Amino acid sequence: MNDLIYRPGLEGIIAGETSISTITGGLIYRGYSIEDLAEHATFEEVAYLILYGELPQPSELEQFQQRLSAAATIHPEIIEILRHIPAQVSAMDVMRTGASLLAHWDADEGDNGREANLRKAERLLAQLPVLMAARFRIEQSLEPVPSESGRSLADNLLWMLHGEEPTEQHVRAMDVSLILYAEHEFNASTFTARVVCSTLSDLHASITAAIGALKGPLHGGANERVMEVLEEVGSADRAEAWVRNALQQKVRIMGFGHRVYKTGDPRARYLKSLCAQLAETTGHQDMEQMANVIETVVVEEKQIPPNLDWPSARLYHYMGLPIPLYTPLFVLSRVVGWSAHVIEQLDDNRLIRPRANYTGPEARAWLAPGER
Ligand SMILES: CC(C)(COP(=O)(O)OP(=O)(O)OC[C@H]1O[C@@H](n2cnc3c(N)ncnc32)[C@H](O)[C@@H]1OP(=O)(O)O)[C@@H](O)C(=O)NCCC(=O)NCCS
Repeated sequence: MNDLIYRPGLEGIIAGETSISTITGGLIYRGYSIEDLAEHATFEEVAYLILYGELPQPSELEQFQQRLSAAATIHPEIIEILRHIPAQVSAMDVMRTGASLLAHWDADEGDNGREANLRKAERLLAQLPVLMAARFRIEQSLEPVPSESGRSLADNLLWMLHGEEPTEQHVRAMDVSLILYAEHEFNASTFTARVVCSTLSDLHASITAAIGALKGPLHGGANERVMEVLEEVGSADRAEAWVRNALQQKVRIMGFGHRVYKTGDPRARYLKSLCAQLAETTGHQDMEQMANVIETVVVEEKQIPPNLDWPSARLYHYMGLPIPLYTPLFVLSRVVGWSAHVIEQLDDNRLIRPRANYTGPEARAWLAPGER
């Protein structure tokens, strides 16, 4: 075993190959920088790019949007099950259960071929927002609002959550956040999805496991914790003392740091200005000011820059979205990246089965019960 490389957390280890995205020299999806995509593309175009490898032609985009619209409904039995899940169950746990449930009513269940997986990926992309919005409304004793064709995924999502016409600015903010969350190389949840499908298990099983991995506060769960931190700090004048004290106590400030980006997360840089604009129009300049104080102190004291979850939590707050939906929103977008990775893994599969350094006792003799 001595010639094998071991690094805790697999830090810096190349664990596979991908043509979907790279984080070397910025974040790039299939050759396009996320800055270009966030500036010019819609989430649907980006989803198509990630799943199919190329930006869509106009007719391909139209057909893709039509397929997503047609699939944006879930079986009434699933709605019934959502009604029976206890009220205290978190939205993120419902997403995990929901992804698994959707498999039982999927027409391609049992077919793990490339074409079937693309169809299943499109259906998950269309159905998970319906499921999330339905559960959100059921929790408030409201009836689910059906999806409406002709709306973009971001528009439809806000429509199904609130049953009110969303503003153009909110739709655009949601669209950009979905673009930025869509794909990120071999992060923990994507790697989980690849490990699961490498056993030749199916797409829904891989996505269900990935949602479980995303939930953790060191990964996707961080966006909800960021908002809890901002609520705890409360105001800009308390921010500096709060953060200096927290750092002294060795508290991890959620929304800061990244295993790979040590000089800054390009997604956070991009979203910061959009966040500031939304704060301006929604009257949240105080929170923006507080966040800037915290950011300045963390960078000054620890040289740890913010990651995407730092601005995205505020963005969702400024849009009036409740905290328990923040990580589920991440799921709605990352399902695209996870699906593309499952399909890529299965195209050239080899079971993912690494080794471990054994740290247990040396070989020892069996002892009968009375001799132990
Ligand atoms: C994402 C994360 C797990 C990556 O960490 P990592 O590469 O494993 O880095 P380490 O845990 O080895 O941390 C290295 C040092 O930076 C510190 N550090 C890392 N992130 C920190 C944070 N958010 N706040 C304060 N200190 C932090 C660690 O305490 C450690 O300090 P030490 O050397 O004095 O002990 C980590 O930065 C983190 O926990 N961030 C907060 C959660 C978060 O926002 N997650 C979303 C990621 S996109």
